[in-house]
Amino acid sequence: MSLVITGATGHLGRLVIDGLLAAQVPAHQIAAVVRDKEKAADLTARGVEVRVADYSAPETLAGVFAAGDRVLLISGSEIGQRVAQHQAVIDAARAAGVALLAYTSVLGGPAADFQLAAEHQVTERAILDSGLPYALLRNGWYHENYTANLAPVLEHGAVVASAGEGRVASAARADYAAAAVAVLTGEGHENTTYELSGDVAWSFTEYAAEVARQSGQEISYANVPAEQHQAILTSAGLPEPLPAILVDVDAAIERGLLAGTSGDLARLIGRPTTPVAEAIAEALRS
Ligand SMILES: NC(=O)c1ccc[n+]([C@@H]2O[C@H](COP(=O)([O-])OP(=O)(O)OC[C@H]3O[C@@H](n4cnc5c(N)ncnc54)[C@H](OP(=O)(O)O)[C@@H]3O)[C@@H](O)[C@H]2O)c1
Repeated sequence: MSLVITGATGHLGRLVIDGLLAAQVPAHQIAAVVRDKEKAADLTARGVEVRVADYSAPETLAGVFAAGDRVLLISGSEIGQRVAQHQAVIDAARAAGVALLAYTSVLGGPAADFQLAAEHQVTERAILDSGLPYALLRNGWYHENYTANLAPVLEHGAVVASAGEGRVASAARADYAAAAVAVLTGEGHENTTYELSGDVAWSFTEYAAEVARQSGQEISYANVPAEQHQAILTSAGLPEPLPAILVDVDAAIERGLLAGTSGDLARLIGRPTTPVAEAIAEALRS
């Protein structure tokens, strides 16, 4: 039996593998599914078995899973292609007879009525229809979605969003990775759904105030209309269709869809989630 991580060369996948190794899972019991073997050279060097497959090429997925494996399907990053891609992974997992298929879904699952959630909802349905033992890890937002973009915030003295006074219960990517490790290495997670989010939901006003406090600069929250926000994101160079998708996310934040604080994440990882202030501090240091 192996613990198999897809998307293993991505940000989350690497943290999951780090977490498994830190939890004393022997490297030879960990398999990394990657589409670029060279990018995984460091994983091979650590003794992790690297299996090459592309979500978009179902034939490459035949044989990457074995009966009894516990699999973490990390959702793909190619928006618009993910339903077929995830279906191909689910089909391969089903053909192999894996013992658990965990999937990184979206907070709220079927209740998440924004564009970015649609492919996750179809994937969840496909997993349920497969009949495989599953664990739906409905991940809320990463702190890093925001803290990775501090340079323009510091340059312009503004956190630009169109989310009104909506709140975001984000957590560190490492917190979500720790949850995945807990599910893969623990017992009794079959056929469960977790609503994973940070312990604290913050507003953009509070976020701007914290960046200001830590940086010593004047930073305010610029709550702009949706059309203006989309134009700003487009002029900043975000590729289509991302600007419209991110503005749609902000509208969902304003409606409270990413503010849920169920406590599932802290319970799974056995500690409080990382405060956003810590992620801001880390981003300012780097
Ligand atoms: N909750 C949130 O706030 C949030 C934010 C952003 C994304 N997400 C979702 O969570 C996932 C994991 O987050 P992340 O930060 O780790 O993203 P990431 O760094 O972009 O990682 C995505 C992983 O998916 C792999 N992948 C993409 N297309 C693939 C394909 N066709 N075949 C095989 N592998 C493929 C990538 O492979 P390569 O390494 O070869 O590129 C990468 O390893 C994302 O893909 C996205 O679905 C969630």
